[in-house]
Amino acid sequence: MKRKNKLLLCWLLVFAVYLLGSCVNKSEKKPNEIISGEVWRDINGNFINAHGGGILYHEGRYYWYGEFKGDSTYRLERVKSWECWRADAQGVSCYSSTDLLHWRYEGIVLASLPNDSLSDLHPSQIIERPKVLYNDKTRKFVLWMHIDSPDYEKAVAGVAVADSPTGPFVYLGSFKPNGLDSRDQTLFKDTDGKAYHICSTDWNKSLMVSLLTDDYTKPSGVYKRILIRQKREAPAVFKRKGKYYLLSSGCTGWDPNRASYAVADSMLGTWSVQGDPCTGTDADKTFYGQSTFVLQIEGKDEYIAMFDRWNKTDLIHSSYIWLPIEFTDHNMVIPWKERWSLDLKNIK
Ligand code: GAL
Repeated sequence: MKRKNKLLLCWLLVFAVYLLGSCVNKSEKKPNEIISGEVWRDINGNFINAHGGGILYHEGRYYWYGEFKGDSTYRLERVKSWECWRADAQGVSCYSSTDLLHWRYEGIVLASLPNDSLSDLHPSQIIERPKVLYNDKTRKFVLWMHIDSPDYEKAVAGVAVADSPTGPFVYLGSFKPNGLDSRDQTLFKDTDGKAYHICSTDWNKSLMVSLLTDDYTKPSGVYKRILIRQKREAPAVFKRKGKYYLLSSGCTGWDPNRASYAVADSMLGTWSVQGDPCTGTDADKTFYGQSTFVLQIEGKDEYIAMFDRWNKTDLIHSSYIWLPIEFTDHNMVIPWKERWSLDLKNIK
């Protein structure tokens, strides 16, 4: 072989070794890394089935509740005006963790009822965006969720209660909060113990904030429409340094769109729209995700924005995107990070 060719071969080899090395490094997940959009597994190696979820911190553990979706995805052909992709509702799942990295499957804490075709909880119905609060007075865990008919026309909120964070939850029934339709929804518990239900209403044109009764199981009757005619859904609410934040998506079904957030001085006050907090790759499409919850790390000034990356033709295999939120005064930014490290012990 000529000297020139040998040299070329050497360079090619070096390049191949470098490429191989960088691939191995990229795919290797460090133990405390969060990698957005990948398959997330529980400590038994099974993939986590907890979509549209929310997290409750209780006595040293984080409990992640979500939609436990059925295996197969189908399109409801009778709905013509939009793509109504469905997976059977199997109920609400729960996973728990002390470090937000290693999740133990706690089971289905509110199961669907395959033998009761008239029930809200029949697998053909919608059980979405479950959120749980702990009520210090009643010592009950209160679960609210979006209950709907298969075509999303019924638009009600369902409530269930349990004595333990891992259930079993007892279903109390469903209703239209304050007589108004309720679809995408979340809960927020304030530092004074008051709790609120926040949902899309008026056919997704506006959001509604309802103060709940002291036991958190019903609307108190005090409520306010907010972000009127702004067509927002997927609300996620949190409080930081005296201000209330509401992150939400636009209304394009399972397809991604631009996120936006609003800030207020009180839950029933005036919410002012701040715009899209996402930055970086695919920020205009919320990184191909949709908001579901913002988790405050217990006792810390650290917040994680949680999104679902829906796979509309295979809903059970939709993945998760979790990103740390950055603040400058009262402005929030959610920069795209493909992977980042989370070490609760080292957070000040
Ligand atoms: C989304 C909503 C999801 C689900 C979906 C159905 O807009 O945020 O939770 O209801 O529509 O197409």
